Amino acid sequence: MPQKIAAGNWKMNAPDSAEVQKLLDAHPAPSVSILLCPPATLLAQLSKYLDGTPIATGGQDCHTAASGAHTGDVSADMLRAAGATHVIVGHSERRADHGETDALIRAKAEAALNAGLTPILCIGETLEERDAGQTLDVVARQLTDGRPETGTIVIAYEPVWAIGTGRTPTTDQIAEVHALLRDHAPDTPLLYGGSVKGANAAEIFAIPNVDGALVGGASLTADAFSPIIAAL
Ligand code: G3H
Repeated sequence: MPQKIAAGNWKMNAPDSAEVQKLLDAHPAPSVSILLCPPATLLAQLSKYLDGTPIATGGQDCHTAASGAHTGDVSADMLRAAGATHVIVGHSERRADHGETDALIRAKAEAALNAGLTPILCIGETLEERDAGQTLDVVARQLTDGRPETGTIVIAYEPVWAIGTGRTPTTDQIAEVHALLRDHAPDTPLLYGGSVKGANAAEIFAIPNVDGALVGGASLTADAFSPIIAAL
């Protein structure tokens, strides 16, 4: 059975450090894997703070190269050196803001694996694609084109229209996509992401083939993230 994971993506936010200690105090011996993905500038500091605790850290993106003339970018090796065990690749905000393609995302995932990191590959349809009945085609294409041929990864299904909106798909809609993902990736942890909160976490985690969550807004405070972790 795939590992259960509660991953927090802080995006471009820097929560008060007291929130991290509160989270540690609330989950001294968690039965699930907890991961925090801070902005790159905070990664080394957070990894050091969490060293020896059950909470791991991850990056939010990486370059395809290990080093070189790439102003503003961070390599997977650098994330690893800063203490990360994971890195998010292909988040819809990167696809939208930076024009990331499936081919680029796959190269980033391969770079992550080469650096010893576990990539968290994000996939998900836009509202227009869902309304056009293209959801399964879109996520299958993103998975096929964005996933490295070998290596251990995590997949996060994040419908774009559910991210930060307070809207979540129905349990049937999540189940349908996760069944398809499970067919393609039998032993891979499959996370759901998009407006997960304490109030809906238990219902989402009861859906077949949902092994955890990639949480944005609700990962910024211990009070909001703790009930999600507890529901896994
Ligand atoms: O990476 C996390 C997702 O984009 C979900 O964000 O929980 O704020 O909707 P959200």
